[in-house]
Amino acid sequence: FGAARVLVASNRGPVSYDVQADGTLSARRGGGGLVSGLSAIGADADALWVCSALSDGDREAVRRGVGEAGVRMLDIPADVHADAYNGIANSVLWFVHHMLYQTPLEPVFDAEFRRQWASYETYNRAFAEALADEAAQGAAVVVQDYHLTLVPGMLRELRPDLRIGHFSHTPWAPPEYFRMLPDDVAEQVLRGMLGADRLGFLTRRWASAFEACAVEIVGGLGDTRIGVHGLGADADFLRERSHEADVNERITALRAEIGAGRRAIVRVDRTELSKNIVRGLHAYEHLLASRPEWRERVVHVAFAYPSRQDLAVYRDYTAEVQRLAEEINSAYGTPGWTPVVLHVKDDFARSLAAYRLADVALVNPIRDGMNLVAKEVPVVSDEGCVLVLSREAGAYEELGDDAIVVNPYDVIGTADALHEALTMAPGERAERTKRLAAAATALPPAQWFLDQLAALEG
Ligand code: G6P
Repeated sequence: FGAARVLVASNRGPVSYDVQADGTLSARRGGGGLVSGLSAIGADADALWVCSALSDGDREAVRRGVGEAGVRMLDIPADVHADAYNGIANSVLWFVHHMLYQTPLEPVFDAEFRRQWASYETYNRAFAEALADEAAQGAAVVVQDYHLTLVPGMLRELRPDLRIGHFSHTPWAPPEYFRMLPDDVAEQVLRGMLGADRLGFLTRRWASAFEACAVEIVGGLGDTRIGVHGLGADADFLRERSHEADVNERITALRAEIGAGRRAIVRVDRTELSKNIVRGLHAYEHLLASRPEWRERVVHVAFAYPSRQDLAVYRDYTAEVQRLAEEINSAYGTPGWTPVVLHVKDDFARSLAAYRLADVALVNPIRDGMNLVAKEVPVVSDEGCVLVLSREAGAYEELGDDAIVVNPYDVIGTADALHEALTMAPGERAERTKRLAAAATALPPAQWFLDQLAALEG
């Protein structure tokens, strides 16, 4: 048996390495709910985070034996990892749960898919073996997300003594969509997950969809329990971080880009198909076309950060976002006014600056496990911000009452919602922002994680 009493497993870990020009390695710490959640037990020397080596620097770090206490990176062969991560996790399972397929032509489950599926099994087995190796007798293991659906079942066989949880950060597909997967694969995914003592989801909706799949395909949940933990924003961290000097500097720069006296409609996303950035731009364009009074008086500040660029469909989507932003700017722009300010270089301080000064936040995903941007904006906002929120985001369950809710496919409806948001009275806007911030921070990341551990004990 190993020594770790609490283990987390995820594809992307809390730290990543770059090889510098002089050959040394520099570490970068990632953000996100899981990282801050784990800081709750970070002081605990018995905790271990098992993750994949993703970059060349990560692989080099593993080879040189460089690393952080409490983190173990797995150097899975690059081709196996690429098949599992790009091929299965991001092109099949992500697409299924976000219902992204263009179904007349996709998906096609052919020989290439079968080869990638075998890699996904190998990659999941590498995690299960590492966890089995590191876990102390009776330890708690929390496996994260769609990359690692087979781990609970594999780990259960290797180590029946462990308490095993799995948490999904994505939506879960309804059975009629999930059943697009080949039957044996659908069964394997469900049985893999059901190897856990407890499964966690972000909303009741995703938990019910999982349960419906389990009932239809494998006859039920067996002994596995299901729980809902709606990950919230980290208020203390965000409020402090958003008032540091670098954020203040970026506020000044952003204000200059927007122009004095103009309103800002802000969005911040990975350039991700499910985030619906293109329809958001169309909605903004419709607002300018149908309500000319907003021309020169509003700017759409869109931050769309590169994501999953190994996949052609993501590269194409990124290009389309850029093309459309340019098209709107050349159709409507004037010498003193750029209607869309698009930034694609990831910059957390600038995202926080945009949150602080936003008049309206546009969060219009076609499907989203939670969407933390919707929760972060109201916490950080200086003067109150109206949230235009898709009813298909998990955050809708908690924030729907005080947001302006949209059907993400309805571009004209979204344009109308933007108009309504821009014209909301300041008093109401401030009141709603307060209530949104309270709902958004109900379950801070540290508590979110501790609740899962406690439920696993019970
Ligand atoms: C979603 C997933 C996470 C993933 C993140 C970023 O939030 O639920 O598991 O880490 O996207 O995607 P990436 O592919 O860059 O890790």
